[in-house]
Amino acid sequence: MRITLPDLLRMHAEHTPIVMLTCYDASFARALDGAGIDVLLVGDSLGMVVQGHDSPNPVTIGDMAYHTQAVARGVRRSFILADMPFGTSQISPEDTFRHAVTLVQAGAQAVKIEGGSEMARTVEFLARRGIPVCAHIGMTPQSHHQFGGFRVQGRDPVVAQGLLQSARDLESAGAAVILMECIPRLLAEEIHAALRVPTIGIGASPACSGQVLVLYDVIGLGPSPLPRLAKDYSTVAGGIGAMVSRFAEEVRNRSFPTAEHCY
Ligand code: KIV
Repeated sequence: MRITLPDLLRMHAEHTPIVMLTCYDASFARALDGAGIDVLLVGDSLGMVVQGHDSPNPVTIGDMAYHTQAVARGVRRSFILADMPFGTSQISPEDTFRHAVTLVQAGAQAVKIEGGSEMARTVEFLARRGIPVCAHIGMTPQSHHQFGGFRVQGRDPVVAQGLLQSARDLESAGAAVILMECIPRLLAEEIHAALRVPTIGIGASPACSGQVLVLYDVIGLGPSPLPRLAKDYSTVAGGIGAMVSRFAEEVRNRSFPTAEHCY
């Protein structure tokens, strides 16, 4: 049976950790689905790990639809979340909705949009028209030019306050899930405690409702050195199924992330 949004909300309510990994093709989708990964994120990180760019920004809506369709062909149980690529959600809510429809028609059950309070109107527009949104705050990779690189966000108290307010505004606008990337652990815990919706962390806190990593980092195909937020499971388990199962086990028993993977 396919995992649905209400299933994810129930997991959050029951304090069952949600396990998410990025996925970009049908073969990995079959392996991850078979290993019991709850959510497959068709991330625009594919621009870096599949296409070889140095940022996700060159990825187009056509690329996202292509990879979402491929993942959907390999999935039986996992929930599919797809990224809105750079330039497709920073426009009017109506145009964003049209792009989101392309991803839903490709097989996504929800879309992920980067940005803070400024995206609340767009999130509300989509949510009210039947498209669940995961709002991505903190170090939002599509804004790396503005940040001067892929840097931890929220160490400055004013920025931290802004992130907390963004999370509240996005939740009020109807975001189904809030994903926090690369922010200090205590801030992530404050945001998680302030919300009713599930939170997903990457370089955030083990207190989040779930964790996500880029698949290629987990299976030993990531950059060297890996970013602090990631863990290479190829050194502790053999085979892709075993590696991702180990990641799932550690998220579920809350032994990943440790302080070593937080900021
Ligand atoms: O595109 C992606 O892989 C992501 C995750 C890093 C959260 O947005």
